[in-house]
Amino acid sequence: MSYILTIVGARPQFVKAAVVSKALAKNGINERIIHTGQHYDPKMSSIFWDELGIPAPSVNLEVGSGNHGAQTGIMLQKIEDYILSADEKPAALMVYGDTNSTLAGAIVASKLHIPVLHIEAGLRSFNREMPEEINRILTDHVSELMFCSSQFGVEQLGKEGITKGVHNVGDVMYDAVLAFSKIAEKKFQLEDVTSLLSGEFILATIHRPSNTDNKEHLNSILEAFSKITSPILWPVHPRNKQRLSELSIPENVTLIDPVSYFEMMILLKQCNLVFTDSGGLQKEAYWMQKPCLTLREETEWIETLHEGWNQLVGADTQRILDSAANLPTSAWKPLYGTGVAAEQIAGIVKEFLAAR
Ligand code: UD1
Repeated sequence: MSYILTIVGARPQFVKAAVVSKALAKNGINERIIHTGQHYDPKMSSIFWDELGIPAPSVNLEVGSGNHGAQTGIMLQKIEDYILSADEKPAALMVYGDTNSTLAGAIVASKLHIPVLHIEAGLRSFNREMPEEINRILTDHVSELMFCSSQFGVEQLGKEGITKGVHNVGDVMYDAVLAFSKIAEKKFQLEDVTSLLSGEFILATIHRPSNTDNKEHLNSILEAFSKITSPILWPVHPRNKQRLSELSIPENVTLIDPVSYFEMMILLKQCNLVFTDSGGLQKEAYWMQKPCLTLREETEWIETLHEGWNQLVGADTQRILDSAANLPTSAWKPLYGTGVAAEQIAGIVKEFLAAR
């Protein structure tokens, strides 16, 4: 029976797949999922599958961590092996975002002449030192259907000569926020932070190599945090754990293990400000109408900069402090569609498959 093959591997992709898989099933499209195993700790992986009810993957390739070449290379080999030994060639291959798992899926499919469907297409930070920027550009350029979160993506692809198969559908992460934030409230179990939740606090996440692998950046971020009076709650990505244990953490900063999606929804809802270098969290903060300071020099989610709701502050102590003291008071407006992106994607994929 004809099917599409979805490749996921990293935490935010599980969230996106949760809503899209549901919409594909609703539209009668068969799907098989490959988990590359890029993220593997239970708190980075299985907790999301269980919580969000994502259909079990056909296989977990257990690729794990490694340098970019090694990690992507093993993925290429294993995804190709899976497809070549499958009972039937997939009708299309779907990838999300900009991780190494995204790129690996896109390369394998394009070489096997399987159409690539890219969700979150057309984004650019214009910083080619970010591995994600390379992954995005290459994936878009071998894709047949590209689903953009906003008009910016459509226009950017146009500038790169890609106009066919491009659709502005809105953002599937907005669908997820709408679908899950109510359920999250009922399932919140993070007891160790209850005392923080009763007062004002700032939510922080930092995982980009440009911050975590640069001691100077990490120190100047920590210096800014130490000068802020509010408590700061920081769920720590495993890549940071070792380095942070070697640094002196300001008293107002509470480090906790990575949190689940539902837990993150509640923390976002309760906090009064977000510090992050994550792409997804910039958008989620925006949808939750929380101001965000992005600890990077550029963002691919430029629309969130609207009226200062998101501000780029790099890893600069003074810029972080100045922006934290100047939060937006102006009107918020909806961005990235109306929360029906997954349904639109499923409809377009259905038509695409029927026409082949
Ligand atoms: C990856 C993506 C990034 C995305 C992020 C989402 C790439 C290049 N980067 O970054 O775009 O925003 O996922 O969270 O694909 N580790 C663990 N346990 C895990 C996973 C990772 O301990 O389950 C540690 C390992 O030390 C590993 C490091 O984290 O080397 C980095 O993991 P990796 O998957 O390479 O990149 P992320 O930083 O998670």
